[in-house]
Amino acid sequence: MNVISILGRQPELSLAELEQRFGSANVRVFSDSAATVETDLFDITTLGGVVKGGKIIAELEKADWSRLSRDIVQRYARTFKGEGKLTLGISVYGQDIPAREVQRTGLALKQSLKKQGRSVRLVPNDGPALSTATSHHNKLGLSDNKVELMVVYGPKTVVVAESMGAQNITALAARDQGRPKRDAFVGMLPPKLALMMINLSGIGQKSRGADVVTRPSSDRPTILDPFCGTGVVLQEAALLGFNVYGTDLAEKMVDYSKANLEWLAVKHPIGTVRVEAGDAIEHQWQQPIDAVVAETYLGQPFSAPPAPDKLDKVKRIVEHIVTKFLENLAAQTKPGTPHCLAVPAWRDAQGRFTHLSVIKKLESLGYEWQDLEHVDAKSLVYFREDQVVARQLLILTRK
Ligand SMILES: C[S@@+](CC[C@H](N)C(=O)[O-])C[C@H]1O[C@@H](n2cnc3c(N)ncnc32)[C@H](O)[C@@H]1O
Repeated sequence: MNVISILGRQPELSLAELEQRFGSANVRVFSDSAATVETDLFDITTLGGVVKGGKIIAELEKADWSRLSRDIVQRYARTFKGEGKLTLGISVYGQDIPAREVQRTGLALKQSLKKQGRSVRLVPNDGPALSTATSHHNKLGLSDNKVELMVVYGPKTVVVAESMGAQNITALAARDQGRPKRDAFVGMLPPKLALMMINLSGIGQKSRGADVVTRPSSDRPTILDPFCGTGVVLQEAALLGFNVYGTDLAEKMVDYSKANLEWLAVKHPIGTVRVEAGDAIEHQWQQPIDAVVAETYLGQPFSAPPAPDKLDKVKRIVEHIVTKFLENLAAQTKPGTPHCLAVPAWRDAQGRFTHLSVIKKLESLGYEWQDLEHVDAKSLVYFREDQVVARQLLILTRK
């Protein structure tokens, strides 16, 4: 099946995630904000960086909206005819069609279906595309009687697709805010980013991720997070079906991760969980380690760009921990082990980044960058405009 994916706030990260999850040969950049993926395994709940996905029905020469709109009404007046009430949404991406025009297409389709005896509730547009929240709350794309047509304009062609669901923001928020143990000071990872990092490591593709969850736990790959904190990576990895192994210097964080995973296990069947205290610069981990996904120590939080000497001091501390950790880890992992590590990069007032120097020495520490075809793998940085401490994502393989 060919699926159009609407990419998230940082499209290059979403694209990298799709590429690492489904293989670069199956991913095509469609526009600045969308990519197509050839796969039968598309499941939006397992992706952190995709906001909506739709099964592609047609890819057409670019045409103006009125023409396209007529074709859509004609086609879907046939496809959607049938029994029971239909909830219908229409979203246009990549072209600034006024919301009322998109709505007009919906109304024409509604009327046509009504004449055939099917009643329709049309979800109102307040822009050309329905927001993720609107699609999600209306459960569009999740059943035969709740549908969303997606019209996605690219530079040369336009895709018509039927939604397969929007990002489940309710479940993501519940996993983020509903956990019993949270700690603002260690700076918890958003679950979306944790999911994205697990996919970015490439372990899902390597282990044919879609069926991991169906295997007995003795047969599932283990993901290690040596800076597990409150356990967000462990939590998301466990939900994807991986066995999880977390360590952290702070006993308190070990307890937090354990409590959070116990909480998760009450509601979801998960595989093996192991959490213990350990300093990442010298800890001896248990085998097996099939992938390493972690947000390392990020140094102290800043709400405004620090003075150069202050930044220098923090950078030196982080540099030491990350370098020693990478050395220690490389001595314990097998060649080919995939990694996705988030390390700090500090943004100044002009938006320029100060990166860790160890990034230039990764080869000599026993790692190589994984090749990405659609994006520059060496410049993936996750940040929000108001953040000083951004997270640079290193997608590596143990040499
Ligand atoms: C940025 S936080 C990770 C937060 C985590 N991703 C979460 O979602 O809660 C970094 C974690 O690294 C731990 N840490 C700092 N230095 C460490 C070291 N040398 N070895 C292991 N853990 C360390 C801290 O206790 C903290 O929990």
